[in-house]
Amino acid sequence: MTHSASVGTRGSWGSKLTFVLAAAGSAIGLGNIWGFPMLVGLYGGSGFVLVYLICVLLLGVPVMIAELTIGRSARSDPVGAFKKLAPQSRWRFVGVLGVVTGLLILSYYSVIAGWTLRYMVTTLTEGVGDSPAEIQTAFTGFLASPWPLVFHAVFMAITVWVVMGGVEGGIERSTKILMPFLLLILLLLVLRSVTLEGAWRGIDFYLRPDLSKISFSVVLAAMGQAFFSLSLGMGAMITYGSYLSEKEDIASSALYVSLSDLLVAFLAGLAIFPALFSVPGLRPDEGPALIFLVLPNIFHAIPFGQLFGTTFYLLVAIAALTSAISLLEVVVAYLIDQRGWSRRRAALVVGVLAYLLGVPSALGEGYVPFFSGFLSRVDFLFGKLSLVIGGLLICLFVGWRWGTASAVAEIQRSNPGFRLGKAWSFLVKYLCPFAIAAILIHQLADLLL
Ligand code: TRP
Repeated sequence: MTHSASVGTRGSWGSKLTFVLAAAGSAIGLGNIWGFPMLVGLYGGSGFVLVYLICVLLLGVPVMIAELTIGRSARSDPVGAFKKLAPQSRWRFVGVLGVVTGLLILSYYSVIAGWTLRYMVTTLTEGVGDSPAEIQTAFTGFLASPWPLVFHAVFMAITVWVVMGGVEGGIERSTKILMPFLLLILLLLVLRSVTLEGAWRGIDFYLRPDLSKISFSVVLAAMGQAFFSLSLGMGAMITYGSYLSEKEDIASSALYVSLSDLLVAFLAGLAIFPALFSVPGLRPDEGPALIFLVLPNIFHAIPFGQLFGTTFYLLVAIAALTSAISLLEVVVAYLIDQRGWSRRRAALVVGVLAYLLGVPSALGEGYVPFFSGFLSRVDFLFGKLSLVIGGLLICLFVGWRWGTASAVAEIQRSNPGFRLGKAWSFLVKYLCPFAIAAILIHQLADLLL
């Protein structure tokens, strides 16, 4: 795993499988299980799903290849990578933007991961509640208390502990077992969900093609979500790519990671929406609370629901942990490589800082009205906008500064037969930057005019 890389010389992943699992561990997280269904609900259903799919395949995969290639070629943290490939230029600020963005995403990511920890504990000790109304009250009550701060602290502490190097290799081994397990539980949830009464209305909302609700804000949201869910746009994949060995094929790795990420998001939606529409009174545009209000209703409706629910929240928390590690790792790698800090100090200081920055997010969902909406705003600015801008700059960098020829040469070092070089170069040089810029400009014009 990454921490072995910090000891002495820069290390590398054990094998391609290890790398794909670690990168998939970074990608698969709250973005898939919490964020994706939330946005599908907010942006009106199947139209968003379709746009999202296109964004992942046409923008996400090429940008992931670009980031991994930058990382492997430069063998450095994001700031160092830009410094190395474009010395004495301002490109290093793309890396700086990434580091800042990582810190701020981590701040609220840990808050939401804390919610899943809370659900794990209470599902185990108290069950899920007996009626939709009770489930709703339990959640609102939790948010209207200072408890989210405590779970935020617990989650952040675990993340810091892992990144400090506490469980050498442990994460690597555990993801190999836990990710397939998460998939299995998700599949079982889907099965139950689609067989609930009235489930078809949810399937209809989720999957029946409906282009009428697609607008520029839908496209921006889908694009932002694609970057977030694939861990792109802030150098996480540059960092992970910097530990990737010359033997491994970048393009197919990127494809495996993206497809597994898509699959988990798709299944999460398929578990949520049928269940949602079968419970009277629940609305799809619930926002951040969505999965915490819907899923307990499934757990309530199945045998061994309590056990099932506890396991589910545990697995989501673990998926969130492997993602949070990669967020923290970017900032830590920067402080180690560029500022000469020790790994221990970097992880501790950044963890405390991210915790403090997350306090308004933890309190704003019901306890302190002054902070209301803080979480969504930080999520929009850093979990979406900044990633999209970062993705745009990364495309421009590879396409126009470093050069796609150098990048393709790097990819071909491990895969001499890489035949998609031309197509990929076209995407990175023209299509991706143009598409991203067009949508950004449109949004900006919308805001200003
Ligand atoms: N991709 C993760 C998720 O979906 C979150 C995440 C981890 C992330 N590392 C990242 C998002 C880097 C953007 C950039 O939950």
